[in-house]
Amino acid sequence: MGVHDDRILLDRAREREVLDELLTHARGGHGGVLVIRGEAGVGKTSLLRHCAEHASGLHLRRTAGVQSEMQLPFASLHQLCRPILDRVGSLPPPQAAALSVALGIKEGETPDPFLVSLAALSLLSESAAQQPMLCVIDDAQWVDSASGQALAFVARRLLADSIAMVFAVREPAVNRDLDGLPDLWLEGLADDDARALLHTVIPGRIDSRVRDRLLTETRGNPLALLELPRRLSSTQLPGAFVVGDERELPERIEDAFLARLDALSREAQLLLLLAAADPADDPILLWRAADRLGIDASAAEATEAEGLLTVDSGVRFRHPLVRSAIYRAASPRDRRAVHLALAESIDPTTEPDRRAWHLAAATIGPDETVAQELERSAGRARARGGLSAAAAFLRRSVELTGDPTARADRALAAAQASLQAGEFESASHVLQTAEEFAFDELHRARADLVHAQIVSASGALDEVPALLLAAARRLEPLDPVRSREAYLDAWGAALFAGDRAGADMREVSRVVRSRRLFRDDQHGTDLLLHAMSVLMTDGRQAAAPGIRRALSEFLVEDLPVDRGMRWSVIASAAALETWDFETRNAITMRQLQRARDAGALTPLAFGLNGAAITMAMTGRFEAALRLCAEASAVNQAIGSRVPPFGGMLLAALRGRESPAFTLFEEATRKADESGSGFGLQWAHWTGAILLNGLRRYDEALDAAQRAWDAWPDWFVSIFASSELIEAAARLGRPNRAAESLERLTASARVGGTEWAVGISERSTALLSEAADAEPHYVAAIRSLSTTRLRPELARTHLVFGEWLRREGRRVDAREQLRIAHSMFTDLGAEGFAERARAELLATGETVRKRTPSQHEELTPQEAHVARLAADGRTNAEIGATLYLSPRTVEWHLKKVFLKLQINSRRALRSSLPKYEPVAG
Ligand SMILES: Nc1ncnc2c1ncn2[C@@H]1O[C@H](COP(=O)(O)OP(=O)(O)OP(=O)(O)O)[C@@H](O)[C@H]1O
Ligand SMILES: [Mg+2]
Repeated sequence: MGVHDDRILLDRAREREVLDELLTHARGGHGGVLVIRGEAGVGKTSLLRHCAEHASGLHLRRTAGVQSEMQLPFASLHQLCRPILDRVGSLPPPQAAALSVALGIKEGETPDPFLVSLAALSLLSESAAQQPMLCVIDDAQWVDSASGQALAFVARRLLADSIAMVFAVREPAVNRDLDGLPDLWLEGLADDDARALLHTVIPGRIDSRVRDRLLTETRGNPLALLELPRRLSSTQLPGAFVVGDERELPERIEDAFLARLDALSREAQLLLLLAAADPADDPILLWRAADRLGIDASAAEATEAEGLLTVDSGVRFRHPLVRSAIYRAASPRDRRAVHLALAESIDPTTEPDRRAWHLAAATIGPDETVAQELERSAGRARARGGLSAAAAFLRRSVELTGDPTARADRALAAAQASLQAGEFESASHVLQTAEEFAFDELHRARADLVHAQIVSASGALDEVPALLLAAARRLEPLDPVRSREAYLDAWGAALFAGDRAGADMREVSRVVRSRRLFRDDQHGTDLLLHAMSVLMTDGRQAAAPGIRRALSEFLVEDLPVDRGMRWSVIASAAALETWDFETRNAITMRQLQRARDAGALTPLAFGLNGAAITMAMTGRFEAALRLCAEASAVNQAIGSRVPPFGGMLLAALRGRESPAFTLFEEATRKADESGSGFGLQWAHWTGAILLNGLRRYDEALDAAQRAWDAWPDWFVSIFASSELIEAAARLGRPNRAAESLERLTASARVGGTEWAVGISERSTALLSEAADAEPHYVAAIRSLSTTRLRPELARTHLVFGEWLRREGRRVDAREQLRIAHSMFTDLGAEGFAERARAELLATGETVRKRTPSQHEELTPQEAHVARLAADGRTNAEIGATLYLSPRTVEWHLKKVFLKLQINSRRALRSSLPKYEPVAG
């Protein structure tokens, strides 16, 4: 047989070109990523190697995943970053801390996974600023999931960093972290090259039928071309080829490798199995374990001679398929033996987790000691932010637990951990075990709770309230604290699901009220849940005093950030229900601040959304825009499906038709998909605002009606009725809105705030007979003037002016319309400004259309970066806010400078109009 030189790369001209371009870009300061995909043996690793060898001028960093059940969190990321870890100190301190804990360098608080990812991005970016970098990640399908997510995060954010990232993924791959990144599918070699490669293994004459058959069956897969002919005996070669084999290529290649085992001694076979069983490239460990099994060093010579495994300063298989083939083919007994030998060779103080895995794999029946060890490993993994690894440790520990109660306990913990890691299938699976072994009521109830959480996390929001309610009921006598949390979650889920929910807020409320659980407690949270239940069962009037008291208690209650977030959503709904804008604002801002301080991203996304709503309502659109941009950066980072509530309201008020409709379409789709009736209702309500601004009253009426129908009389539907009234009035159909007015005024009366009075007076005016209207308009303006709700005030001047014009009082009308127009223009409410301008025109006054200001040419991302820079923040700080690398920030800024024709950060302030800082 001939010798194949691994370094020769046939074919692949196109692929090399693509890679060359990527490297050239990286050298020039433009980051990029490429995912090479293809079946086993098709040549991905070879292509990566070629790329690495031609990466002159680039700092090469590489890592590879290894197939193994063993999960060690951040193993691959650690390997990739190891030589540049001395730069960790130059990262912003929260990032430095997160990365150090994740990589096991330091102990500390469990880091947020996204902060770890951001830190990795900053670190690589920082290093690439010194020298351009090529990161090669081979066998990405096997990279541990914590690293995989971090690397995918980095890959999605390469823009202005001198970093090229190249991944190789063996297909079909289960993991979809890298989906959507630019990819390149590798196929077999072209016919000529396949022939040439075949020639290196069968140099002599070869029967043309055999050759053609080989070429067809391998489809040019180079590994198959190199390995399959070795199975053919010298007598077979010239004659007929083995009958067609139906199996997949990788399997056939594995068999070709396995066929070579026959020639080896038992010792050599065991050595191979040892090497296959531990993913680490660690010859010292290997020899230590080999020693325990009585394997002589000479065994390695045999494995090398067969071209299967080389052990020198490292442990290298001829190909990853050798590893998997050998492990798969081994008897369970042999496998346990090698795992035990490995476990016993590992120092429990330095590598307890690796040892625990091997021990577990060596154990057949229930074994409490090993199960406990795995549990401890899970705890360590979790402390480093390796949720997926923690879940894997726990799941294995369940399998080794004999005692049914302990088994149910661990299975519940495993289900919860899997859920947190976003592995819903594993979570459901291990939950079944929990249910099977849950002999007592408490376990069964807790299993119900986890089941509800899994359903919620996997997106079917409409089913959640009923599930949570059932769990809460069950838990009540057993675990009051958990039960109360479950009731709260049920209530919140019902609020979010809106009319889509199987069990609605009324039902949850009735149950809550029928229990004494919450009544006597003095905590704001308990008061709040009780008050909201009263609201649902007995109505506004009865609930209002309780709500007010609950809110003021809630504002001083100290809650952990994630629970605080869940409560805040309900508290702010309660505040809106009573027309209490300032309290709602205080709740939201406090939540935002706490989420920022804690670096907790899910609560942060909620806080940003809430704050954006405040800013939009008070007419601080620039600030709202920034918050929305930040919220969308966070949402993207955490893959959240929460509809952009703040963004919708803002878009509606700003009134730019086409971007607004695009946003609404997207938001509606999201809300629909996730079963959020509340999200849909919100979209209808804010859509009505937009349409009223655009003078499309027919459609506005329709949208407002749909918002109302979604959840009549509660929360947003009251605001929607104000839109309905305005649209009906403009259409000359006041009767259409009579009922809405009744409900609105009733709600406003209970609220009793200036905001409530203002809106109800305005609505009354809109539907009044001509003679009665004026005092209501005047009263509305008076009330709203005392609030911060500038857009509502401007809208009141507008409708007053419109009425005056219709009454023929041109001069008075002009005065009101001028105020409205100038307010809208200042705010940036373009739709309503245009409506005011048209009305003014009708009074005979011409106003020039507002010319779009310079900064409108900036993309939202650029505008956001510019704002933050004008705030005096550094690139690193801006990057930390927007989940970008500092270099990418710099790149955006350069474009901003160009567009605004300035050349310094200092000039930014004066070039960005209507600058307004946001608290928090
Ligand atoms: N273009 C090529 N020209 C010559 N030989 C090649 C070429 N591509 C791959 N080979 C040879 O084929 C074998 C398998 O290639 P490689 O290991 O790169 O495949 P792979 O796609 O990485 O497989 P896996 O999915 O198992 O990791 C190697 O021995 C390699 O030398
Ligand atoms: Mg490979």
